[in-house]
Amino acid sequence: MKGEIRGFIFDLDGVIVDTAKYHYQSWVRLAKTFGYHFRKQDNEALKGVSRMQSLEIILRLAGEKRSAAEKEIMCAQKNEWYRELIQGMTKDNALPGVNRFIRNLRRRNKKIALGSASKNARTILKQIKMIHLFDAIVDGTNISKGKPDPEVFIKAAKALKVKTEECLVFEDAEKGIEAAKAAGMYTVGVGDRKILHEADLVISTFNQLTWRSIKSKILASKQDP
Ligand code: BG6
Ligand code: MG
Repeated sequence: MKGEIRGFIFDLDGVIVDTAKYHYQSWVRLAKTFGYHFRKQDNEALKGVSRMQSLEIILRLAGEKRSAAEKEIMCAQKNEWYRELIQGMTKDNALPGVNRFIRNLRRRNKKIALGSASKNARTILKQIKMIHLFDAIVDGTNISKGKPDPEVFIKAAKALKVKTEECLVFEDAEKGIEAAKAAGMYTVGVGDRKILHEADLVISTFNQLTWRSIKSKILASKQDP
């Protein structure tokens, strides 16, 4: 078996909190302003992608063109609506088992980072009372390239002072798994196996999950042939 895993990097939206639905609702509302119905099945492509890139995907789907200044205004509007939806979040909005799982890792002296494309990450972590569990936070305010570029995860490993090959990433987005693999990290997909099949392991929830129960499966995934 190869190496040890010392750094654990968590995506936020869809891994720690179920905010993907709020992002989606806000984009639907924005798309309505120019008469477009943004369909649920197209939402997967927005996961892990920055706010501006998300808007550009929707505009392309709608066959619409906007100037850079107009796009800035649209993103600001979407974010205002999104923030209205997340403002009532409390610690009960953390996805089942994730808080316990992270606290467990900390007890084992593991290093914990957030690796998210969201500029709202710190606000959300504070609201759900989990911000103190992270040794490092790399989010949409620290990166210039979105997933599937590995920048966010490489920066998170650096901030933790852990080698990239000693990191494990938890991700709900296909582009996030791609980014983590490009960074040379171990990967756990959180969600649908059909979408996340490139991950070393796929889990549906953190409920009942222990590091001990998945450790050997993950390390074995990179075993030399
Ligand atoms: C990612 C989400 O975590 O953050 C994307 O998966 C979202 O859907 C992106 O667009 C940016 O989020 P925010 O909060 O900065 O608009
Ligand atoms: Mg996500």
